[in-house]
Amino acid sequence: MVSLARIIAVLLAVLVMSNIASSVPNTNIRSVLCNSGIFTKGDPFTISLAYVLDDLENFTTSQKGYDYYNISPYPNAFSYGHARCNSTLITADCTTCLRASKQALFSSCPSRIGARSVLYDCSMRYEQYPFAE
Ligand SMILES: *[C@@H]1O[C@H](CO)[C@@H](O)[C@H](O)[C@H]1NC(C)=O
Ligand SMILES: *[C@@H]1O[C@H](CO)[C@@H](O)[C@H](O)[C@H]1NC(C)=O
Repeated sequence: MVSLARIIAVLLAVLVMSNIASSVPNTNIRSVLCNSGIFTKGDPFTISLAYVLDDLENFTTSQKGYDYYNISPYPNAFSYGHARCNSTLITADCTTCLRASKQALFSSCPSRIGARSVLYDCSMRYEQYPFAE
């Protein structure tokens, strides 16, 4: 019979190894670029931008290669977005990185009509015009 202590030791070893194996996304910032143009509080772009960034955060992880372009659905003001993760990341790490990327946009480029944040393992960009990069 295998002793309880032995089982616990094996379980601990598995835990430690899975911690080592699980990756950590590199969310350090490479660069953040802000358009100098500003939108005002009541601008319908506010809603379009919120949608686009949420949508990028929600759905980039289910795209092939974690590469996703989108557009807001509201006709009053369009926002175009793009997000990408390092394709070697696991889904949860891509989500973590995109969250950091979005946070960088909000904190470095408040109320800007366009912005891009490039982190080591992911990037996020939005504009008021269609773009490809
Ligand atoms: C993104 O996911 C959150 C949480 O599930 C949800 O509340 C929000 O409506 C979603 N947004 C978009 C644009 O899909
Ligand atoms: C993705 O992550 C891997 C593992 O950390 C790294 O070797 C690779 O250079 C990264 N790729 C890009 C495009 O940054």
